[in-house]
Formats: sequence, structure tokens, C-alpha cells
Amino acid sequence: MNAAVLTPPDIRARKGGEPLVCLTAYTTPVAKLVDPYCDVVLVGDSVGMVLHGLPSTVPVSLDMMVLHGQAVRRGLSRALMVVDLPFGSYEESPAQAFRSAARLLGETEAGAVKLEGGVAMADTIRFLNLRGVPVMAHIGLTPQAVNQFGGYKVQGRGDQATLVRQDAVAVAEAGAFAVVLEKVTDPLARDITADLKIPTIGIGASPACDGQILVVDDVLGLFTDFKPRFAKRYAELGRMADAAIAAYRDDVRARRFPGEEHVFGDAPRTKA
Ligand code: KIV
Repeated sequence: MNAAVLTPPDIRARKGGEPLVCLTAYTTPVAKLVDPYCDVVLVGDSVGMVLHGLPSTVPVSLDMMVLHGQAVRRGLSRALMVVDLPFGSYEESPAQAFRSAARLLGETEAGAVKLEGGVAMADTIRFLNLRGVPVMAHIGLTPQAVNQFGGYKVQGRGDQATLVRQDAVAVAEAGAFAVVLEKVTDPLARDITADLKIPTIGIGASPACDGQILVVDDVLGLFTDFKPRFAKRYAELGRMADAAIAAYRDDVRARRFPGEEHVFGDAPRTKA
């Protein structure tokens, strides 16, 4: 392993310090783009919706995570790479979770796995942690449970706050090195951040979290099927791509492309 690669203990040690910068990546070129700026790069199961056009993360398989994890690995030299355990690959038992996590770590060289769930997953997190698998937990809105939630709803309002707090404490006590808080209300995410000894990473949560994570295609304006309120767009690459492809079509139809510089004559030129 490259000596400069960030590790789970490095991320854990950033509690209360400079905010952790985290993004998803699913391919080598995007991993290369985000690596210099990120502390954590997540190969999220959002890959199913963002790159494969699936309706949710539920149908994502372990094979898909391995393939995208291997691609991302080739593009990283500094950030900690975390790979999501997909739905169905870990919930049955700690042993099942270990088998899936061992495959992800072994075949992708990720530094850690992420799994969704709080109190219900605490024993599994403990089991993995004791066997050399660093775990990032994910609580609040857990998209793999979208069918149970009945949609991508804000978590932690009213009586629900106690449950989210219990989840946060449970994953921290079980040994998770960080926890993602998704769509948890701001006052609650702020309180949990103050209470826990491990970093919280917010997505639609609070600026008080120890770090933030977004889906890179949302940040770049490439995923436009829908736009969650929490996803700030920093570029409009989708619109730029549309204009570029339309210009290519116009050039082809008008025989402006290929130009002289793109074709090959009989006499060799200096540049191939
Ligand atoms: O799959 C994903 O992209 C996630 C988020 C936390 C960004 O889990």
C-alpha cells in the first residue's frame, strides 16, 4: 500500500478537526479527478441508479461493487477508498457480512466497507471490526430500506429522534470508525456530532458534521434524473455534454467533421 494513502484510523483521528471531504466515484477517470481533493472516496451502491439506470439501490449486486471498486482503485493514490456492501450481502448474519466484506477488501483493495443500519447492525459491525474489517456505518435515511420507509424521507423528526440517536450510539460503540448521517434533521445531526467520539459525515444533514459527502454526478450536474434538495450542483456538465453532442451531430451532417487535421493523407506527417 502507498504510504500516503489515508487509512480508517487517519479518518477517525479527524474527529472535531478540519472537515472531511468525501465524494463517490465509480470509474477510474472520475477517481483520478476526485482523489487530490478528497479524504474519502466512496464506491457507493448509488452506482446502480447513477450509472446503471436502476430504480433504487436495492438490485445492486456484490459483483457490481467489486467491478466498480476495482476500477476506482486504479484511479486513487491518496484518499481512503470505502466500498458499499450492497443490499442482501450482509444483513442475514455477521458471518455472511464477513464473507462479503472479505471479498470486497480482497478483490478491490478498499480500505474499508460501508453498511447501512444502526442498532440492528451493531453486532455485525462488532464482528467485522474484531476480524480486521474497518466499517463506516450509515444511519438516518438508509436508501436500501426505501421500500420500508415508503420513500426517501427526512429522518429524526419528533419521536424518531430517539431512534436515530440510539442508532448513532450503537454503531459507535460497536467500533465503526465513522458514520454517515443521511437526511437527519440539522439539530439532531449537530447533537449526534457533539455526542459521538467518531466522525459524522453528513449528506443532507448539518454543516456541523465532521465531514460531508455527495454523489459526484450530482456535484457535476451529470445525473439529472432527479435532484435531491441536499445535492448542490457545482457544474452543469450534463448541459455542456448535450451542447457538445449536438455540435458533433451538426458537424457530421454538414460534413464539417472530420476536418483535414483528423484524416490521413498518403505522405506521413510528423504527428500520427
Ligand atoms: O451510495 C452512496 O452513494 C451513498 C451516499 C452516502 C453518498 O451511500
